[in-house]
Amino acid sequence: MSEQGVSVGIIGIGTYVPDRILTNHDLENMVDTSDNWIVERTGIKKRHIVEPEVATSDLAVYAAQKALVNAHVSADELDLIIVATATPDMFFPSVACLVQDRLQAVNAAAFDLAAGCTGFVYGVATGSQFIKSGLYKKVLVIGAETLSKIVDWTDRNTCVLFGDGAGAVVLSEVRSGYGILGIDLGADGSGGDHLKVPAGGSRIPATEQTVAGRLHYLSMNGNEVFKFAIKVMGEAAVKALDNAGMDYHSIDCLIPHQANIRIIQSAAKRLKLPMDKVMVNVDKYGNTSAASIPLALEEALEKGRIQHNDIVVLVGFGAGLTWGSCVIKWCKEENTIV
Ligand code: ACO
Repeated sequence: MSEQGVSVGIIGIGTYVPDRILTNHDLENMVDTSDNWIVERTGIKKRHIVEPEVATSDLAVYAAQKALVNAHVSADELDLIIVATATPDMFFPSVACLVQDRLQAVNAAAFDLAAGCTGFVYGVATGSQFIKSGLYKKVLVIGAETLSKIVDWTDRNTCVLFGDGAGAVVLSEVRSGYGILGIDLGADGSGGDHLKVPAGGSRIPATEQTVAGRLHYLSMNGNEVFKFAIKVMGEAAVKALDNAGMDYHSIDCLIPHQANIRIIQSAAKRLKLPMDKVMVNVDKYGNTSAASIPLALEEALEKGRIQHNDIVVLVGFGAGLTWGSCVIKWCKEENTIV
């Protein structure tokens, strides 16, 4: 679907990661792994992990407050808050409602969105449509996760991969011709079993047996997810570019989901992009799921890797299985980091 009508873009961004750092060497003392294995297979060197009393909504609020300041928008101007997360504080109320209350965003509707690591891209795509339709003017989209709360810290196959964090953006109408130019979203539910938390929902409610069986932790078929990611990352970006009337030559900066350096390199190759046009920070944060793309986007902005008029492509994949990409023509004046 090509983006017609009112131009909608990101006018402010904010991120937050907890202070506590878990290095690969720390993990060597917890499971049978090595810094060498983790760096070679994933590119991850460390990740940030919340303290036990901290929940996803706390990270979401901190990131949101920064995004509002950056956008010069007050909380009561927000019409809608969307939180993309796979690790909500609880089943309900939604994280978005908890954030709405903490921000005192009294005029905002609020809901959560579940699309795994693709959640942020799904959130930006969804939020932008409310502005395009004329219903809303300011939408806050947050990707926030505390994956550390659902990771089995005795399972070396998964515990080395994930980290905690949050990123938020404010969406608004922007100057004509700028902002979101193309979107591609997709899902293949037949692959859902490859990445899931088996118990604790309505299919397998929590019991003593499910807890004893460690069924409340994230379970993943890493090889299958890897193959899926390699396939869809490039394809999604190509489709979103096509929707924007562009091709890979147009990309100035690729902001991929930060799951694994090998997946990122493969997407870059598929898009014929040199790595200096690809933002990578998986080494510092690990896979922060729905938070990873805004964390990478803000770092790219801070490092001056995105300039006025640049074509920025967000692309992600995740649980569901899902994928998504968004092509943005960047407008510097509306995206000043403060
Ligand atoms: N340390 C040491 N050895 C390990 C570790 C570890 N942490 N983890 C696995 N191994 C071992 C395995 O047991 C296996 O040993 P074996 O050959 O004796 O059986 C060996 O290393 C190779 O395992 P593979 O799974 O084949 O390793 P691979 O190179 O495929 O890398 C990885 C595994 C990193 C998980 C990769 O498959 C991957 O990145 N997959 C995608 C994961 C992903 O992106 N998930 C996020 C999805 S997004 C979301 O919505 C949350």
